[in-house]
Formats: sequence, C-alpha cells, structure tokens
Amino acid sequence: MKKLRVLIIGAAFAADLHSDAYSRILDKVHIAGICDKDMSRIESLAKRYGFTDYKAYDNYETAIADCDCDVVDICLPNFLHHRVAIAALNRGRHVICEKPLATKLEDAKEMVDTAKRVGKHIYYAEDWLFAPAISKAKEIMLSGEVGKPLYIRARECHSGSHSPFAQTIEFCGGGCMMHLGVHPVTFLLALKDNKWEEVVAMTAPGKEGNLIHSKMEGEDWAGAFIKFEDGTYALVEANYVTVGGMEDIIDIYCDQGCIHVDLSFSGPIRVFSIPGLSYTVEKAEITTGWSTPAVDEKYNLGYCGEINHFVDCALKNEEAKVGLRGVDGLETIKLINAIYKSAREGRKVRKEELGE
Ligand SMILES: NC(=O)c1ccc[n+]([C@@H]2O[C@H](COP(=O)([O-])OP(=O)(O)OC[C@H]3O[C@@H](n4cnc5c(N)ncnc54)[C@H](O)[C@@H]3O)[C@@H](O)[C@H]2O)c1
Repeated sequence: MKKLRVLIIGAAFAADLHSDAYSRILDKVHIAGICDKDMSRIESLAKRYGFTDYKAYDNYETAIADCDCDVVDICLPNFLHHRVAIAALNRGRHVICEKPLATKLEDAKEMVDTAKRVGKHIYYAEDWLFAPAISKAKEIMLSGEVGKPLYIRARECHSGSHSPFAQTIEFCGGGCMMHLGVHPVTFLLALKDNKWEEVVAMTAPGKEGNLIHSKMEGEDWAGAFIKFEDGTYALVEANYVTVGGMEDIIDIYCDQGCIHVDLSFSGPIRVFSIPGLSYTVEKAEITTGWSTPAVDEKYNLGYCGEINHFVDCALKNEEAKVGLRGVDGLETIKLINAIYKSAREGRKVRKEELGE
C-alpha cells in the first residue's frame, strides 16, 4: 500500500500531539521530513516516536522545496501558518494546519483560495471533533433520545499558554478566545453548519486591564453568547485564569434531557499521591494529593482520530469532513472576529453586517 509522505514543520508541543498519532498508523504514513529552527527538537521528537528515515531541516522554505512529500503538517506558531501554507500549497502539497487557521481573516481567505486554485486540500486540525466523548455526545444528541437541543455551553480554559508567541496579538491573532475558544467555536459551527446569526460578547481588555496576565496583549478572559439560525443558543467561554489543569467542558441542554462532557477530568482513575505523580493532565500545576490522571490523553482529546482522518483523506485526495476543512477554519476566524468586535463596541453583532 502507498504510504502518505508527511513533512512536519515545527517540532514542539503540537508536533508531539500529531506525532503520537502518526506513530500509531505507520502502516500508512511515512514521516519524510521534520523541520524546526531549533534542530535539537527534531531529533528528540523523532526519537520519542521512532521516526527514522526522515530528512531534517532548520528552514521551512528549504524543507518545502526539497522534501519529497504529499502533505505539509504545520505545527508552527499561529502567525506562520499563512505563509507556510501558501508556500506548501504552491509547491503542490496538501496542508494540515493547526488552529487557528491564520491570525487574520484576509490571510485565511488567501489560504482557502490558494488551495482551491492549485487543487489541493487544507485539513484544519480541530481535535475536539474527534474526541470520542464528544462524538458519543453528538451521536446521542442527534438520535433524538434527549429531545431537541436548545442551548449549549462550551469552554476551554487553563492558566496560560506555554508558547511565547501567545503573548502578542501580532503573533497569536488575539488572546484566549483566539487561542482556546477556537475549539468550542469550531465545534459549535460544525454542529450548526456554520449558520450563526448574531453574537454578543465581553472580554478582558488585555495588558493591565487583564485579570492576571498584565503583560499579555490579548484578553485573558472572554465570554460570548451566540444565536444560531435554527433559533438555538450557545455560550462560549475561554480564559487563562483557570488553575488546576485544562478544562474542556461541554454542557448540552435539550427539551427532554441533557448531556455533560468533561474531556480532561472524567477519567476512570483516581489517585492520591503524597510525593506527586510525574504527570496528571495538561497544564496541571501540581500533582500531589488527589488527582484524576488522564488515560491516553492524546487519544481522548481527539488528536489520533483527527490525524487518522486527514491521512485517509489525503491518500484518497478527498476533502475532510465538515468542521475540518480550510473553509471551516476561515468561518471560525470570522466568528471570533465578530466576538472581538462585539466586545470592543459593546453591542450585538449580526453575521449579515459582516458581508462575505
Ligand atoms: N490543537 C491543539 O490542541 C493545540 C495544542 C497546542 C498548540 N496548538 C497549535 O499548534 C501550533 C504550534 O503550537 P506549539 O505549542 O507547538 O508552539 P511552540 O511555540 O511551543 O513551538 C513552535 C515550534 O516552531 C518552531 N519555529 C518557530 N518559528 C520557526 C520557523 N520560522 N521555522 C521553523 N521552526 C520554527 C519553534 O522552534 C518551536 O519548536 C500553534 O498554532 C498552536 O495554536 C494546538
């Protein structure tokens, strides 16, 4: 069977998530190249996941020009997604792109347009859409067994990004809503086929106005109410003021039942440790005392399903499912920009006023 040849660009945190997923499907994937300006990260990533026959690069332009691959997997800081994707698409490669698709709407549009022009696909890496617990919740919700969905509350929150690029709007595209809220926003848009009507939001103003992160340009707290075309509502929240580990929580209220999903803390194991464990869940500051260590965290957060789907799609030269296409990344940025506009102007923003 022909294997999909992948060039991974960026060899840090997100690359680790993707690499774990690739390492489970090496019967259909070959990691042909890894690029990072810090080459020590390349070797350690490859060693961790048993990648051997790959080329190492410290410059993405050289990597894209030289590496014999089918797909370029972009695991770089947000502001680099656009330029690297355009270079890869113009070289005739499919692109897997981490969230958010870009830091600016016009950049995201150019990426989607370029993919269309060169006949390649952008696979937008939203892991929530493959988290097994979310898939199960969606299956129950769509079966009608809890009645008609009316209202969804969804959030991703933790104590702050590890990446220095998350500190500035130029490099990140926004604050916590852009960096974390992007997950619940894409999840909701995928569920509602991108059909939202209006949004009203409030965010911390950034810098000294933030709740905690006074050096960060973007907001460290944000909340938005969204109304969809089908008359249902959602509340999306993102913040960097949540200690104790990452919260990925979705509550779905229907007219004959409700569903509660907790991706990070609903594991089947409870541990009490006086010296502390080496790891429990993402972003947990301490691991002593009682904890619920994550079980196969990368699988349960959806990264394995996501990468497996993209590999299958690229091997068949097919578009990804709804929520995971370049255009879905674009629609997500549109809605997040509307959230920022609403917070800035202190008013409800309607989708129709934004134009195309
Ligand atoms: N889906 C998720 O849950 C999830 C989780 C974490 C990060 N992400 C996303 O993944 C992306 C990467 O995040 P991260 O946390 O791994 O970032 P990071 O800042 O930790 O690492 C980025 C890597 O890119 C390398 N790099 C930077 N500039 C480069 C250049 N010009 N050429 C080559 N290499 C360069 C750095 O050396 C570093 O190793 C971001 O867009 C982030 O939003 C997604």
